[in-house]
This record gives sequence, C-alpha cells and structure tokens, in this order.
Amino acid sequence: MENKRCVLVVDDQPMNVRLLATQLEAVGYEVVKAYDGQEAIEFAGKHMPDIVLLDIMMPGIDGYETCRRMKADPVTASIPVIFISALTDINEKVNAFKCGGVDYICKPFQREEVLSRVDTHLKLYSLQRSLAEQNIYLEEAKKDLLILNRRLKERVEEEVSKRQSGEQMLVQQSKMAAMGEMLSMIAHQWKQPLNAISSTAQDLEDAYIHNELDKAYLHTSVAAITNQTDFMLRTADDFRNFLRPSKEKTLFSIKEAIEQVVLMFSPYFVKSDISLNFNHTGDDFGVTGYPNEFKQVILNLISNARDAILSHRDKQSTNIIDINVIKAKDGGMAVTIRDTGGGIPEDLIGRIFDPYFTTKDSDKGTGIGLYMSRTIIEANMGWRLTVSNIEGGAEFRIDI
Ligand SMILES: Nc1ncnc2c1ncn2[C@@H]1O[C@H](COP(=O)(O)OP(=O)(O)OP(=O)(O)O)[C@@H](O)[C@H]1O
Ligand SMILES: [Mg+2]
Repeated sequence: MENKRCVLVVDDQPMNVRLLATQLEAVGYEVVKAYDGQEAIEFAGKHMPDIVLLDIMMPGIDGYETCRRMKADPVTASIPVIFISALTDINEKVNAFKCGGVDYICKPFQREEVLSRVDTHLKLYSLQRSLAEQNIYLEEAKKDLLILNRRLKERVEEEVSKRQSGEQMLVQQSKMAAMGEMLSMIAHQWKQPLNAISSTAQDLEDAYIHNELDKAYLHTSVAAITNQTDFMLRTADDFRNFLRPSKEKTLFSIKEAIEQVVLMFSPYFVKSDISLNFNHTGDDFGVTGYPNEFKQVILNLISNARDAILSHRDKQSTNIIDINVIKAKDGGMAVTIRDTGGGIPEDLIGRIFDPYFTTKDSDKGTGIGLYMSRTIIEANMGWRLTVSNIEGGAEFRIDI
C-alpha cells in the first residue's frame, strides 16, 4: 500500500533488526533494514522513511554520528530519529538528544513500548509536517493577498483619476456652456450701444458735410460715444466677474446676489418677452458660501425656465419666471424659482439632475446645467436643490 508508514531499523545485530521488523510489520508498518551507519544514511535518503530506529553502538560510524549526518542533510533532516540502546547512562541519553534524536528506548526493549513510542513520534512528526505545510500555504496566501491588495490599490487609483478627469471634463464643459450663454448675452447687451455709436459717427459725418461741425458739436458727440463705450466695458467686466470662480467661502447676501443676476440678465429676458420677477419677503440673511457659483446656479435655473417657456410658448399666454426668497418651515431660508413652461414629464423628472441628461437639441443643451447646479449647491455648499411640478410649470427650490 502506498500510504503505509515506513520505519528504517538500524542495528548491527541482525537478530535485533529481525525482531523489531517482525513486531512493526505485524502492526502494519513497512520496514527498511540497515546494519550499519553508512547504510542507514544511504537508505534514509533513498527510501525517505517516516521514522528511524537507531542503535548507538555499531562498528564504523556510531549511532550519534549517523544521526548528526542525517540531520545535516536537508533531505533527511526532518525525519525523526529514536535511539535504541543498551547504554543506560544518563549522559548517553543526553547525548542522544543533543545530536538530534527525539527519543530514547533502552534495551532490552518491550514490544509495547517500542510500538507506542514509534506511533507517538509519527503522529508528532505528521502534525509538524502539516503545520509546516499550513505555514507554506499561509505564506502563499499572504503573498496572494499582498498582490491582490496592490492590484486593488492600483484599480482604486485608476478609477479615482478616471473620475477626476471625468469631473474635470464636466466642469470644463459647463464653463464652455456658460461662456456661450454669456457671449450671446454680451452680444445682445452691446447691440444698442453699438447702434448708438454707429449713428453718432454717421451724424458726425453729416454735420461735417453741412458745415455744422464746430468744437462744441464734436465735444458732445465724443462724450456720447464715451458714454456708450463705458457702458460696454462695464457689462464686459460684469460678465467676466460673473464667470470668475469664488476663491473661498464668504458671507454674502442671497438677496443681493439674486438681484445682481436679475439686473444683469433681465434685458435678455425682456427680449424674449418673458418677465423675470424677484420677490422677497421679510429679512435678508447673510449666508456663507460661494457667491459667484450661487449666481451661476440661479442663471442655470432661469435659463432652463426660459427654454421651457420658449418651447411651450404657443400653449400658454403668460410668460413668467418668479424668483422668491421665503422662510422655510424649519426657520431656515429657501429660494424658489417657478416658471410657466409646462413642467417636467413625470417619467423624466427623476433623471434631470443626471449628467448629460437633456431633452434639447445638441446645439441647445448639453445636459450638465442641473448636474453642476446640484453639485455646487449640495456638495460645495451643503444645501439642497430639489424640483417639483406646479400648476402650469416647474418649481426648483434651494433650501439653505
Ligand atoms: N424649468 C424646467 N422646465 C421643464 N423642463 C426642465 C426645466 N429645467 C430643466 N428641465 C429639463 O431638464 C433637462 C436637463 O436640464 P439641464 O439644465 O441639466 O440641461 P440642459 O438645459 O438640457 O442643457 P445645459 O447643459 O445647456 O444646461 C432639460 O433638458 C429639460 O428637459
Ligand atoms: Mg440647462
């Protein structure tokens, strides 16, 4: 049988070897026999016994030396060795342990004693071996874990950097979208002064042709032109400041921030025949946050309301956007923006804050306005931005 335990019995007395072998074989061990130290060392390497029963006094190399050499060879070092000897001196026993033996049996030996000691040491040995195997297994598992850990870390870093570049792209796109919006507003704001300047120039030429151009006339015309260009520079500055990110959280007035947005953009809404109203009741609180970003959110929300109204135009007669600052139930403050644009279909309302969700043509909307607005309001300022449908339109609400 393959898994029979193998015992190497070493004694220079063939009688002893035979006796031991018979007893061991009787209980199921396989026995390899050696008659001197040299042979024992050779067989140990060749047969890889599970245990060795080793006589001490033998011609040639004695039992101690035999044991030492087995222990010195990594192949056989771990095989347990039990000495069997007629020497009963305590020093001999000590010596036996010193050179690597695990036990010592005195001759004449008792059958039961030999069998039980062999059995005990085999069990110990196999325990040791399985412990060593477990250890190796644990070491391997540890290595695997380390590798897994490293991979996980790499994956996390990869994902984080992917996310960051995704976010950066979104921020970039929303800036571009806001800039596009600004450009068309600037173009609108500049139309009137440009017309005025051009007609003043025309007028100057006419005056010259009709000989009416004196110093006073020139002075008045230049003043009129300067007046217009001053206005244009101011609007350009306003827009530039509007796009500039706030450097840090500051105390600002919600009321003033909304007033600035309304003042800046109402001409643009008037052009579309939409009335943009700002009503505030009660006190004006100071709040802590990013004022420019807050203004951009208000612009996003009123631009969306304008788009909704424009695309809903033939179905209604009133075109109104109402901005209200109200006291919330919990004593805090809330800003609501209501429009008459027909509201948001119930099956879409859960997705409008998702990045890139839009119902507009690709040249009209990218679908990041609300996503950025919510990020600014909730993640950056710790407030809340929600939506609901109302009679005839939608209501966006910022709870501060
Ligand atoms: N006041 C509103 N009334 C009706 N629908 C709205 C309103 N506000 C937003 N929506 C819907 O939500 C969608 C997402 O709005 P969001 O501002 O995120 O993107 P967008 O306006 O389409 O594009 P942009 O990135 O240019 O703002 C809109 O396409 C529109 O369908
Ligand atoms: Mg939008």
